[in-house]
Amino acid sequence: MQINYNLKTASERRTEQFEPKENVGFGNLRTDHMFLMDYRDGEWRDPRIVPYGPFEIAPGAIALHYGQSVFEGAKAFKHDDDEIYTFRLNKNAERLNRSADIICIPALDESMQLEAINALIDVDRLWFPMQEDACLYIRPFIFATEDRLSVSPSEEYTFCVILSPSGPYYSDGFDKAIRLLISERFHRAVPGGTGASKAAGNYAASLKAGRAAAEYGAAQVLYLDANNKQIEEVGAMNHFHVLKDGTVIIPTFTDTILKSITSESILELGDVLGCVVRQETVMLDKFIADIESGEIIEAGGFGTAAVVSPVGSYIFEDNRIVTVGDGHVGKHTRRIYQVLTDIQKGKVEGPQGWMQ
Ligand code: COI
Repeated sequence: MQINYNLKTASERRTEQFEPKENVGFGNLRTDHMFLMDYRDGEWRDPRIVPYGPFEIAPGAIALHYGQSVFEGAKAFKHDDDEIYTFRLNKNAERLNRSADIICIPALDESMQLEAINALIDVDRLWFPMQEDACLYIRPFIFATEDRLSVSPSEEYTFCVILSPSGPYYSDGFDKAIRLLISERFHRAVPGGTGASKAAGNYAASLKAGRAAAEYGAAQVLYLDANNKQIEEVGAMNHFHVLKDGTVIIPTFTDTILKSITSESILELGDVLGCVVRQETVMLDKFIADIESGEIIEAGGFGTAAVVSPVGSYIFEDNRIVTVGDGHVGKHTRRIYQVLTDIQKGKVEGPQGWMQ
């Protein structure tokens, strides 16, 4: 792929490694450039890296009205050799195409996606934030640009990649276990719907639920299936729990759950973690009873942005609170976090091809 570079001048762009004094937070900052590519006349064309800035988009663009838009979230880390390594980016490229297919967006060759992201990181490498637990968060996305108000798939799209020098998703970082609201009022997905796609609309649909969670002092909602029987996922991450024998359980992936690359990685790492990691359908009633009887001792979330996020308690809409174990970060959750982040930071070697 022949990428066209229209870069900021040396005086306009970062010239020294980014060494932030304050915690950079998650998703707040941008780098100097972005990658763009358009889909027109049945093909992806005009790959380019340009200064980060606003788009020109038709007010009638389909993405703005009917939400035909998908995105990804990936991360890159700096290792001791001073190089930047992406974590399983090929999985994100694959998933972007799976998400795209679910809402009729044309696929974009995975090797082109990787080339685009690597080229952008290379241009903006000085933006890697030199800070504990920081990364370059990578946000590729595709949105429908055709200016038409009838409801059918767009004939035109833009693929864009932006980078965000970021710290942990939850401001308290890993050490503070969060609370989740178990809601019977809000649902994220239904069978046959778009729940397995990282479609923008799924996240719009979670906003009101997120607000309700905050009113209960919870960080997010733990979504149940549409019949309020099974535990599904958290929206910004998958859910997991740990049995007292150390077995880690992740709800079985279905078309109402977004397949988290972190969950897939934990499933693949099983042996390295020294425990069994498996998937099963998780029934809410049994889940709560098992927490209360001490059969379940830890719980949390797996996601790219959130990494491994310990859950200390659940709150129901009638204000009943169920605390997991002692409500603090457990040793199994801590070990999973340590193993995964050591691989990401290059402290230990992970499976072949994970860090590129
Ligand atoms: C991610 O984990 O990268 C996500 O996309 C979740 C969220 C920040 C929307």
